[in-house]
Amino acid sequence: MDYSWIVEEFWENGFVVFENFFNPKLMDEYNTKILDHYGISPDWEHTDEFISKSGVEVIPWFPYREGKPYFDTIDKDKHFNAITDLILKDEWENLYCMMMFSKAGSVGQAWHQDCSPVDKKLYNLNRLVYTHDITEETGGEIVIFPKTHKAGMLPSGTPNEDLEGQLVLRPKKGTVIFLHGHCWHRVMPVKKDRISSNFRAVPKGTPEDITDVCVYRNMLYKFSTSEVLKERI
Ligand SMILES: [Fe+2]
Repeated sequence: MDYSWIVEEFWENGFVVFENFFNPKLMDEYNTKILDHYGISPDWEHTDEFISKSGVEVIPWFPYREGKPYFDTIDKDKHFNAITDLILKDEWENLYCMMMFSKAGSVGQAWHQDCSPVDKKLYNLNRLVYTHDITEETGGEIVIFPKTHKAGMLPSGTPNEDLEGQLVLRPKKGTVIFLHGHCWHRVMPVKKDRISSNFRAVPKGTPEDITDVCVYRNMLYKFSTSEVLKERI
């Protein structure tokens, strides 16, 4: 079978979407595991300053860092990793597996790039897996600005606003999105509790802390030290 379209589409647009990639039964099982972890009233990990300034309300969980390799059926899936091989040309490694939870009524995530695009060769690959449907009722749509992985730095400005050319996606349960870390993206306000998961990968040799500094429209933020590295006007 010819898979060259995957590579072409990814490198042209900065992302590629696969619906019905993982089966619903597995997604239900994983969704329950993730919800069990967060419990009924999860606490924000980030500082109040970060939440108010960034316009981001998401609680991350890194299960493999806690010795909880609960999601190997995705992590080790042959097809999932074969597509990664195609996109990253065989030379890649896992960065980390991150679960993300946003409470009903929270703001989602403002426009950002997961890492600085100053050096085009240094980037992360998001491998987003959706364990439940994102609908108009749930909110929390992912918004992607196609082709911006080639557009350099996200322009400074209002952190969370509609931009002409943006694409709003409502992934269904079992959908996978491969998304370049330099491609501008955000998450719309969340109306019902929202979960998504990211099996992040990087080209081999990429620094482990590649996603430590995130580019927002109003600042560069460093997660490891919880500090605003630079204000952007
Ligand atoms: Fe992101």
